[in-house]
Amino acid sequence: MDVIVSLCKRRGFVFQSSEIYGGTGSCWDYGPLGVELRNNIKRVWWRDFVHQRDDMVGLDASILMHANVWKASGHVDHFTDPMVDCRECKHRFRADQIDEMDWTHYCPATKGNKFTMKAGGPCPHCGARRTLCPSCGKGELTAPRQFNLMFKTFMGPVEEDASVTYLRPETAQGIFVNFDNVLQATRRKLPFGVAQIGKAFRNEITPGNFIFRSREFEQMEIEFFVNPHDRLEDRPADEVWHDRWIADCQAWFTRYGLAAEHVKLHEHGRDELAHYSKRTVDLLYKFPMGWSELMGIANRTDFDLKQHAKFSGKSLTWFDEERKEHVVPFVIEPSAGVDRALLAFLLDAYQEEEVRGDKRVVLRFHPELAPIKIAVLPLLKKRSEIVAAGHDLRHRLTRRWLTLYDDTAAIGRLYRRQDEVGTPYCVTVDVKTVGDPEKGETGDGKVTIRERDTMQQIRVPIAELEHVFGRLLDAGTPWSEVAAGYPRAEG
Ligand code: GAP
Repeated sequence: MDVIVSLCKRRGFVFQSSEIYGGTGSCWDYGPLGVELRNNIKRVWWRDFVHQRDDMVGLDASILMHANVWKASGHVDHFTDPMVDCRECKHRFRADQIDEMDWTHYCPATKGNKFTMKAGGPCPHCGARRTLCPSCGKGELTAPRQFNLMFKTFMGPVEEDASVTYLRPETAQGIFVNFDNVLQATRRKLPFGVAQIGKAFRNEITPGNFIFRSREFEQMEIEFFVNPHDRLEDRPADEVWHDRWIADCQAWFTRYGLAAEHVKLHEHGRDELAHYSKRTVDLLYKFPMGWSELMGIANRTDFDLKQHAKFSGKSLTWFDEERKEHVVPFVIEPSAGVDRALLAFLLDAYQEEEVRGDKRVVLRFHPELAPIKIAVLPLLKKRSEIVAAGHDLRHRLTRRWLTLYDDTAAIGRLYRRQDEVGTPYCVTVDVKTVGDPEKGETGDGKVTIRERDTMQQIRVPIAELEHVFGRLLDAGTPWSEVAAGYPRAEG
C-alpha cells in the first residue's frame, strides 16, 4: 500500500485533503490523473450497467434530503457503530474492531519495557492480553456507546432542531423516494432498475487504509425492482435476479483488470445481515491489509419502499396488469464504492519488472480505464518540424482519446514516465517522419507506436493513426492482431 500511496502523490493521482494544513487523514483529493481514472471508472460502469441494458435508467438525486427520509430508512436510529474512548490519550476506537489492532504494552515481566504486540495475541513475556488502550497502552477504555455515523447539518439560516438534516450516508435513498416519479415518467414495467453515482458521507470512527475508508466518498448504486410474486427458473424472481447481479458485478471487475484470484464472494451469515436484508453477498478484493469489501449486493426486500410509504403517506407500488393487483417491489441492490474500485484497479495494475538491467514500474490498466490513452513524444525537441508535427498529432488525436504531448526528457525516460501512469500507447515522431529540408530529404510521414505491456514498436503512416487507434481503443482489437499488419520498429 505504501508504494501505491507514494506513487499516487508523486504522479498526481491522489493527494491528502488540505495537506498544507496538515491534512485531515479522512478525506482525499484526486489530482490530474486521478480525476481521469475516476471518471473513466464511472463512465464505463454507467455505460455497461445503464446505457447497454434495456432494463435500466439513471437518476441524480440531491445530497441534502428531507430529514424524514433518514427516519424512515432507519439511519437515524440504527446507522451506528459501537465506540470506545481512551480516558488517557482520548483516542477513539470502534469497539468491534479493537481486537483486530496491534496494541501497545508496557510489560511488567521486563521492567515495564514497551512493546508493540500483534493483534489478538498475548504478550510472550507475561502472557497478558490487552485490556487498556491499544494506542497509548496506559489508559482505561470507556464502556461502548453507540455513535451515529451521519453528518448532521442545518437546512436554512436558523440553527434549530426543526431545520436539522443530514449529508446522505448512501445514495440509495434518493432512488427509493423517487421510485414513483421514475415509474410515472418512464412507464416502466417490472423488473427494472435505477442507477445513481454520487457522493456519500459517513463520520467513520476509524477511517484509514488510504482511500479504502474515508469520510467523504462516492458510490455507484443500483436499485433493481422485481415483482416478488414472479417466478423465474422455478424460483422466486428476486432470488434469481440477485444471483444474476452478483455474477454480473464480479464479471465487471475482472473484465476491467482485477485478477480472478484476487476477487471472491462472501455470503453474510444470519448475525451479519442488515435488518432489511433477505440475503447479502459481498464482493471481496485481496487488499494489502487482507480480504476486504469492494462492494455489496443485497436483497433489500420491500423494506425501503414500505417504510417511505408509511412515513410519507404516499403509495409506492406498481400495478400488475396481469394479476390486477398493486405490488410493492422487492429490491436487489448492487452497491459499489468508486474510491475502493479505484484503489483495487490501481493495486492490481501495479507491477515492477526488470528491463535490460533497469527497474520498470508499470500500471497495466485496462485501456478503457487508463487516464491518458496516448502520449505523443518527439525524439528531438531541437527540431522545430518534429515538435510541430507532435503538437499537431496531439490536437488531432485528443479529439477522440485523451492525448498528452511531452518533450521534457530523453525518450527512454519519457517512456518510463508513461509506463508508470499506465498510458497504453506512445507515438514517437522522429527525423525520419519529417525528413531534413537542409539535406533535401523528405519525411516518410510515418511514426512509431509503442505498446506499454509488450514494449513492441510498429511503424505506422500518420494518415492511418486514427484508424489504428480506433481498432485498438474503441473496437478492443488485440495489439498482436493490429501489430501484425505493420513493420516492426526497433526500440
Ligand atoms: N446502500 C448500501 C450501502 O451503502 P454499504 O456496504 O454501506 O452499503 C456500499 O456501502 C459500498 O460503498 C461499500 O462496499 C464500499 O465500496 C463503499 N463504502 C462504504 N463506506 C465507505 C467509506 N467510508 N469509504 C469508502 N467507501 C465506502
